[in-house]
Amino acid sequence: MARRPQRRHQRKRPAPAAFAPVTLEILEIGARGDGLAEHAGRRVYVPLTVAGDRVRAALGEPRGDGVAATLLEVSEPGPDRVAPPCRHFGTCGGCALQHLEDAAYGAWKRSQVSAALARAGLAGAEVAPTVRTVAASRRRATFAAARRGGRCVLGFNERSSHRIAAVTGCLVVEPAILDLLAPLEALLCAVLPDGGTADVAVAVLDGGIDLLLTGGPEPGLDARERMAAFAETHDIGRLSWRRSATAAAEPVAARRTLHARFGGIAVPVEPGAFLQASAAGEAALVEAVLAGVGPAARVADLFAGLGTFTFPLASRVVPGAAVHAVEGDASTHAALVAAGRGQAGVTAERRDLFADALGAEELSRFDAVVFDPPRAGARAQSVQLAASAVPTVVGVSCNPATFARDARTLVDGGYRLEQVTPVDQFLWSSHVELVGVFRR
Ligand SMILES: C[S@@+](CC[C@H](N)C(=O)[O-])C[C@H]1O[C@@H](n2cnc3c(N)ncnc32)[C@H](O)[C@@H]1O
Repeated sequence: MARRPQRRHQRKRPAPAAFAPVTLEILEIGARGDGLAEHAGRRVYVPLTVAGDRVRAALGEPRGDGVAATLLEVSEPGPDRVAPPCRHFGTCGGCALQHLEDAAYGAWKRSQVSAALARAGLAGAEVAPTVRTVAASRRRATFAAARRGGRCVLGFNERSSHRIAAVTGCLVVEPAILDLLAPLEALLCAVLPDGGTADVAVAVLDGGIDLLLTGGPEPGLDARERMAAFAETHDIGRLSWRRSATAAAEPVAARRTLHARFGGIAVPVEPGAFLQASAAGEAALVEAVLAGVGPAARVADLFAGLGTFTFPLASRVVPGAAVHAVEGDASTHAALVAAGRGQAGVTAERRDLFADALGAEELSRFDAVVFDPPRAGARAQSVQLAASAVPTVVGVSCNPATFARDARTLVDGGYRLEQVTPVDQFLWSSHVELVGVFRR
């Protein structure tokens, strides 16, 4: 006779103490924008809280050196808690800090820069107040889209999730982007198959809006016709599709040549090319870079991109001003070369600055060097700069941690970190940009 399978023990066990709701005092806001508390000797990360909040929270999974928690209730609000202005705040993962009073928010961004420098042993560096940008000024954003069972959703990913929060209003992006969201959702519903997903990058450029769809199956004739008609109806400058983030983009509707303008020079922009997130953020970074470089004539612009700093540096009224722009990405470098043709004093070089940084000897022909690497920072280049005799180095960064690491290398090489200026162009997020000026 076959043995009957043993019945599983079904008596409900009490929830482990670690998952029970607890009362917490929020001590400060951490680097990712979550509130930090202590419980039973462990650090607890509670999203959507501010310092001084007394909250009830459910402890969850381990996170780094502590444990993640879910906010259940704010029992007593901290002094800097305000009502978030956007109705999607809390669900949408695009913003982390709308519930923080404005002056405290600016101070928190600045403190992220100071703290990163202090961790690298550079607590003495002067950190200026955060340069702020305003709402509705973000000129590029990437949305997620999905079609499930005939329903479509276009929005940002929800907090800590791959689910998409439908965005029917957004206080961060430019109105031109916001106006496009509803018709874009209808387009995606028509062109995506059931179960299909895509990322949609929207950028407002000189000449019109640039739309880049990434993912989903290759659009067939019908989908391409719909996309082209959409571009026509909504006066889209260019609409392209690519299979993945590393694949080349195919133009579906290329109605106008799109440009970015730096120092008065129009630079052609390829689909997906890097551009600072807002015009105001870019202006603040350029201003701080120009102030840092000062009257230095011969300048190297490393990780130059499309020439955000190259062209304003080249157009300064400085005798003998010359800028050498070094960039690793082939099409970005080509766009800068095309725009720089005929521009007095601009030279360009395509080079991988991680594998083949400019050496200390090569650097000696410059009076100043600007570097603006991706989030990983410029470790190899900083080692060469530290060994160089360049009088002024200006570092631009979107990651205070890697900037602080590279700054430490420069300071150990004899540079003085004169000033750091935080720039907030990712409004209400935990991200902060900065410009640091080094001299020897
Ligand atoms: C943060 S963006 C800055 C671009 C430009 N300075 C600006 O403000 O628009 C970083 C740039 O570094 C380039 N880059 C990334 N890795 C690189 C590498 N290993 N060597 C050279 N350039 C690289 C990217 O293509 C991108 O243009």
